[in-house]
Amino acid sequence: MSVPAFGLGTFRLKGQTVIDSIRSAIDLGYRAIDTAQIYGNEADVGEAIAAAGVPRDVLYLTTKIWTENYAADKLIPSLKDSLHKLRTDRVELTLIHWPSPRGAVPVAEFMGALAEAKAQGLTGEIGVSNFTVALMREAIAAVGAGQIATNQVELHPYLQNRKVADFARSQGIHLTSYMTLGYGKVLHDPLIAEIAKRHNATPAQVTLAWAMQLGYSVIPSSTKRENLEGNLRAVDLRLSDADMAAIATLDRNQRITSPESLAPAWD
Ligand SMILES: NC(=O)c1ccc[n+]([C@@H]2O[C@H](COP(=O)([O-])OP(=O)(O)OC[C@H]3O[C@@H](n4cnc5c(N)ncnc54)[C@H](OP(=O)(O)O)[C@@H]3O)[C@@H](O)[C@H]2O)c1
Repeated sequence: MSVPAFGLGTFRLKGQTVIDSIRSAIDLGYRAIDTAQIYGNEADVGEAIAAAGVPRDVLYLTTKIWTENYAADKLIPSLKDSLHKLRTDRVELTLIHWPSPRGAVPVAEFMGALAEAKAQGLTGEIGVSNFTVALMREAIAAVGAGQIATNQVELHPYLQNRKVADFARSQGIHLTSYMTLGYGKVLHDPLIAEIAKRHNATPAQVTLAWAMQLGYSVIPSSTKRENLEGNLRAVDLRLSDADMAAIATLDRNQRITSPESLAPAWD
């Protein structure tokens, strides 16, 4: 698998807040960072990385193309603009952020442009985000499953997204879980708290370990150094089969992110 199991999210974080979060994270050992054109923080991320004092080639940078840049003549110029802001000549992974609203740009068109960006060396890998099974089928038809490094989707104990996960697995497509902590909601769950207590761990560590043990990458965000540090230690936590089975029962199809103007017909 190429997409790192653990990375740093940057959604909602801008200016000095995101710079400080990245600085602490890299200092603590994070090596993967997830941003997006629409987050409006690529220049801040670029500044933080430039100041971090680690060689660029040890970092795994992901950005996401915004929906207004999906047309074949816009996608690559917009990615070049992102690279400029990020102060780099290529990112490791570029994703299509959401399906094209109302199908305005055909899947084959933006996947083709993304594949061309990869061929030009502007991105090491390509992938999708917020794609349903039907949309994954279209993306596979356009470029082949082997080209799709990941589908980044909302996935946490309250939204386990099994149809998407099962289909992705059947195609050998890796999943990245976003909002693994349910934007904090999952951390108050009594079952997660009980498992955490037994392992002498935090609820966040249990939740992140659960997702990684299912084979998903995670990209939790935090503005606090102690949370960044604790979250990264989830890579050392091993949950039992009984813990995993218990967390599986928490699924309640509780989706947090579903913007009306962007959301596809979810599985
Ligand atoms: N592809 C997409 O459409 C999409 C959509 C949403 C998100 N994402 C990506 O996924 C990343 C993660 O999602 P997210 O940031 O929305 O949510 P998240 O990682 O599930 O939750 C982040 C929230 O949890 C808190 N938190 C983090 N660690 C904690 C801990 N150990 N204990 C208690 N609270 C903790 C943070 O607050 P503090 O700052 O106080 O620690 C923050 O409020 C994003 O940053 C973004 O990169 C992608």
